[in-house]
Amino acid sequence: MTQPIFPEITEDAVTRMKSAANPRLREVMAIITRHLHDAVREARLTEEEWGQAIDYLTRTGQTCSATRQEFILLSDVLGVSMLVDAINHDDSGAVTASTVFGPFYSGLQPELPAGSSILKREEPGEDVLMSGHILDADGKPIEAALIEVWQTAPNGLYDVQDPEQPAGHLRASFRSAADGSYRFRSLLPVYYPIPGDGPVGELLDAMGRHPNRPAHIHFMISAPGYRRLVTHLFVAGDPYLESDAVFGVKPELIVQPETSAEGLGIRYDFRLAQDA
Ligand code: BEZ
Ligand code: FE
Repeated sequence: MTQPIFPEITEDAVTRMKSAANPRLREVMAIITRHLHDAVREARLTEEEWGQAIDYLTRTGQTCSATRQEFILLSDVLGVSMLVDAINHDDSGAVTASTVFGPFYSGLQPELPAGSSILKREEPGEDVLMSGHILDADGKPIEAALIEVWQTAPNGLYDVQDPEQPAGHLRASFRSAADGSYRFRSLLPVYYPIPGDGPVGELLDAMGRHPNRPAHIHFMISAPGYRRLVTHLFVAGDPYLESDAVFGVKPELIVQPETSAEGLGIRYDFRLAQDA
């Protein structure tokens, strides 16, 4: 193996952190510095390319606002968010898999009675009845779990992205019943593109990648004594299940809608992990 070029620059940068008061910061910054230097060496970055990278990160920061987080989006499309998720969550199958939170949660919504619709206006989409149970890892029901849900309208936009939609459209909170059950009415979700009008969209284009996420409904489920679950349910048959722009699909989160006397329905039981 050949020696890295200019190793003394890296060693100097790492050694100078040795008196950092926070040992975890020292550890993480040393790892990041070494990997960043190695990436610059391996790519033999030109000064012009370095300048482009600085300009890109500057514009990414400038795109952030109270309602838009372009750095999280960048982390999402580079697969970093899902890597952090994978490292930090149980994937044994005993509890429901988690996935990306995304930037479109807009705070706690009013709780609706079981069976209510989460629509605030009529939409052209297909009605669907969502139902199932909130259970612990042993399959015992969890009563009074808070179930927060959000999804896009059939135009592929969340209410917070679309001034035409009433605030709180297609988002709501519910509580599980004594037997752990939940149910609400919604629309079959559609696939949609993540925001493409900023630096992240530009990068996806340059990398030859599409911006689409397969159809999904977001869930965040909390109950005292249990770890909060942030996940989605994806709809079987979606053309983007294999190439989600943010790598969020896990096979166990793909559901098949079924028709019964109540119309089109999706049934899914969520299992929560006990608090550590
Ligand atoms: C979402 O599903 O809402 C989402 C997740 C990651 C990036 C952009 C959107
Ligand atoms: Fe989403």
